[in-house]
Amino acid sequence: MNFDDATPLLAQHDQSHVLRFWERLDASQRAGLLAQIATLDFASIRRMRGMLAAKAEAPGLGPIAPAPVTRLDEAGRCEARARGEDALRAGQVGVILVAGGQGSRLGFDGPKGAFPIGPVSNAPLFAIHARKVLALQRKYGKPVPLYIMTSDANDAQTRDFFAKHAFWGLAPEHVHFFVQGMWPALTEDGRIILDRPDHIFMSPDGHGGTMSALRASGMIANMEKHGLGLLFYFQVDNPLVDVADPAFLGFHLSHGADISIKVCAKRDPEEKLGVVVARGSRCAIVEYTELTPAQKHAVLPNGQLQFRHGSVAIHIFSRDFLRAQSEADLPLHLAHKKVPYCGDDGALVTPAKPNAYKFEKFIFDVIPNTERAFSLEFSRDDEFSPVKNSEGEDSPASVMRDMVLQFSRWLEGAGVQVPKGADGAPRYRIEIDPLYALTAEDVRGKVSRDLKITGDLLLK
Ligand code: UD1
Repeated sequence: MNFDDATPLLAQHDQSHVLRFWERLDASQRAGLLAQIATLDFASIRRMRGMLAAKAEAPGLGPIAPAPVTRLDEAGRCEARARGEDALRAGQVGVILVAGGQGSRLGFDGPKGAFPIGPVSNAPLFAIHARKVLALQRKYGKPVPLYIMTSDANDAQTRDFFAKHAFWGLAPEHVHFFVQGMWPALTEDGRIILDRPDHIFMSPDGHGGTMSALRASGMIANMEKHGLGLLFYFQVDNPLVDVADPAFLGFHLSHGADISIKVCAKRDPEEKLGVVVARGSRCAIVEYTELTPAQKHAVLPNGQLQFRHGSVAIHIFSRDFLRAQSEADLPLHLAHKKVPYCGDDGALVTPAKPNAYKFEKFIFDVIPNTERAFSLEFSRDDEFSPVKNSEGEDSPASVMRDMVLQFSRWLEGAGVQVPKGADGAPRYRIEIDPLYALTAEDVRGKVSRDLKITGDLLLK
C-alpha cells in the first residue's frame, strides 16, 4: 500500500482523517501507518458503521426459552467415556486454545497464559494446559495437536514463552500458533480512531475471530492433514478444564453433533456467564451483557433461575462443521468503551466517558447455524474456575483455592487423609501435576493411601 492507494481508499470509506498528520510523519512512521491501513477489513468496517447508524445495540434476540440440557448418569458417563477414549486412541482429536484476549480485568501485563497459577509450583496457565495435552498423548499413545490462537498484542510473547519453557515437553511440531484479526474502534459517528499521529487504535476481533483465523492461517487444512475429526475448544483462563474430556467427546459422537457445549448452573443471576437458550428449534448462547435484568433474574416455580445454565466456553466441534463455519459471517457485538485518542495537536487524550465502540465476534454465534448442537451439564467444582479478576470471585486466590480443593478431593477419593483447618479447608497447599494424574481415577490407581501430608505437597 502506498499513499496514492491509501488516499482514495480512505476517502471512499469516509476515513480520510486517518492521514491528517501525514505531513508531520517521518518515513518509518509513514510506512507503519500505511502497513496498518493495508490490514483494515473495510467490509467489516462498513457493517460496523451500518450498526452504528441504525443504533442497533445487538442482533435481536427474539423470544428465548431455556435450552434442553443433558446430565449423564454413571452408566451413561462410562459408555460415553469409552467412546471418547477410542477417538483419542485413534488420533482423531485436536485441541484449540484461545488466548488472544487482553486480560484487562486481571491487570496482568503479558499474555494471560503466562499468569502463574499452580498453588505450589507457581506453574503458569499455559504450562498446566500444555502438560494436560502431553499427558493425554502419553495416555492414549497418539499425538493430540494443539492449536493456540494469539493476537497481534501477544503473539510474539506467547511463542517466546513456549520456547523458553521448551514447550513443557510437547513436541513443537504438534503445537500450532495462529493469530486472530484486529479491528479498529469507531467513534459514535463511525470514524476510525488514531491513538498516535502514525497509529490506528486496534483491538482483537473477539474469539469469534477463531473461525476466520483458522482458515486464513491454514489450520483447517492442517487438521485435515492430521486426520482430526474432533476439536476440543477452551479458553486460557480456566486451569480446571478437563482437556479433551473423553466422556464429553463420547457424548458429542453419540449425538452425531456438529458442536457440543459444556454448561453448569450459574452461581448467581449476575454471574458473568453466557447462557444456553432455545430459539425456536435451535440452540444458542446469549452473552451475559445481552440478557435483560428481567431475563437474568427470572425464576421458575421451583425457585431455580429460568436461564440457569451458563456456558463455560468449552466446546467440541466436528471438523467439517468448523470448516463450513470458518466462512460464515458472524454477527457483530458492540461495546461502548473509553478509548484514548489523539487530539488535534497530536497529543494523547484519555477520555473520562466512553467515547468509542469496540466490535467483537463471538464464537458461539455459530451454534444457531446447526440443528445438531447439544449441551452437557457438569459439576463446576470439577471443571471450571477461571482467572478473570484481580480479587474476589474468579481471581487468582479463588482459582488456587478451587485447585487445592479439587486435588484434595482426588486424594481423599484414593483414601488419603487430607489435614483440614478449623474452617474445614485443606491445611496445606496441594497440587497434582497433570503428568502425575489427569483425573481422580488416575490418582486412585497411583497414590498410596498411606501418604502422609505434613506440609505443602506437589505430586509430579
Ligand atoms: C467468556 C464468554 C462467556 C463465558 C465465559 C466463561 C465471550 C464473549 N464470553 O466471557 O460467554 O460464559 O467466558 O468463562 O467469550 N479471547 C481471545 N480473543 C479475543 C477475546 C477473547 O482469544 O478477541 C479469549 C481470551 O484470551 C480468553 C477468552 O477468550 O481465553 C475469554 O475472553 P474474556 O473476554 O475473558 O471473556 P468473558 O467476558 O470472561
